[in-house]
Amino acid sequence: MNASARLGIVVVAAGSGTRLGHAEPKAFVPLREATLLEHALTAIARLDEEARVVVVAPSIRLDAAREIVDRVLAPGSGAVVAGGAERQVSVAAGVAALAESDADGALDVVLIHDAARALTPTAVFARVAARVRETQAGVIPALPMIDTVAETDGGTAIEAVADRSRLAVLQTPQGFPFGAYRAAIASATAGHTDDTSVFAAAGHDVVTVVGDEAALKITTPWDLRRAELLLDAAAPAALPPALRTGVGVDVHAYDASAECWLGGLFWPNEPGLAGHSDGDAVSHATCDALLSAAGLGDIGSRFGVDDPRFADARGEVFLTATLELLAAAGYRVENVAVQLIAARPRFAPRRVEVEQHLSGILGAPVSVAATTSDGLGFTGRAEGVTAIATALVARVARVSAADEPRR
Ligand code: CTP
Ligand code: MG
Repeated sequence: MNASARLGIVVVAAGSGTRLGHAEPKAFVPLREATLLEHALTAIARLDEEARVVVVAPSIRLDAAREIVDRVLAPGSGAVVAGGAERQVSVAAGVAALAESDADGALDVVLIHDAARALTPTAVFARVAARVRETQAGVIPALPMIDTVAETDGGTAIEAVADRSRLAVLQTPQGFPFGAYRAAIASATAGHTDDTSVFAAAGHDVVTVVGDEAALKITTPWDLRRAELLLDAAAPAALPPALRTGVGVDVHAYDASAECWLGGLFWPNEPGLAGHSDGDAVSHATCDALLSAAGLGDIGSRFGVDDPRFADARGEVFLTATLELLAAAGYRVENVAVQLIAARPRFAPRRVEVEQHLSGILGAPVSVAATTSDGLGFTGRAEGVTAIATALVARVARVSAADEPRR
């Protein structure tokens, strides 16, 4: 192991996790995308300071632990040893391995950490180590007690209710000056459940630093659920919604001297539609709906009347140009629905043909319906047509800041 590091960390992961009740030993139970041990080591790998890490694993999981150590920690900075039947035996095995790696006495601080506190932030490790160096005391991360705690007779009778303001919840990593700690555990009696009591029993001072809610010890299935919720809450903010809808409306007056083009098709013997382009209200409303869905403006602002590409242009030209804008902004068309309101042409006989034509251009289902307005309004008086379209688009690529849709 890397002999220059001053910081030694023992990660005890040899427990079976009886209270969690999982088939795997607790440190190898998954918490979202990684095991508890992987989470614990990931926080350690993020320390600025170089560290020497010993993972104490169940003897039946030494290979699995080695695989995780090799993958998560910097090369040469981690080792795996087998633990014992009691946590204190496991701690001793880890400390012994650290001592063995420290022939030239570089280690000044040792941290003892529970793999079960898988989400302990890196900052807690750094805070504890710094405080040990400042004070030469034993250092424990602690949080104020929230629940009311009582002493009982071991059964149902309460003997005393504790003064909560004097109580604290203790976490790990617990840190110690390495030499003093080794001496303390060498002379310790059995039955100490935490590392600090061993150190204090040898006559050393013990102080606290601020712990962290995320350093909870995962013990029961409910704790695992809490840890999942913490992880989810810390996940990066979601992308903007993946689906967006848009709407578009277009109106053109009849022009009996022009050819009639609607839905991208030619309609012989029908009055044409007036406009800078061919007046294809179905195609233009579709373009507006698509641009609106992607937050890319509208047909007027995108394809101006002074742009020669669009003078007298067919609907297909606008639709193709619109598709290109959507693709560049990372959007795909999911579907489009268009309603034409017009006295002429009689639409029904060619409805399917129009749908197939537009679906072919957009590469997505386009449905088109038509109605008259029962003699009412400008469409009823056969002065012109209205088309209304809605579109649904899906984001297929992360949108760069430059073409982020306007909201
Ligand atoms: N531990 C250990 N060796 C043991 C017992 C515990 O290394 N003989 C480790 C656990 O792997 C855990 C930490 O000490 O990271 C805290 O122990 P605890 O939460 O009690 O874990 P388990 O003993 O595995 O769980 P349980 O008590 O429910 O069986
Ligand atoms: Mg236990």
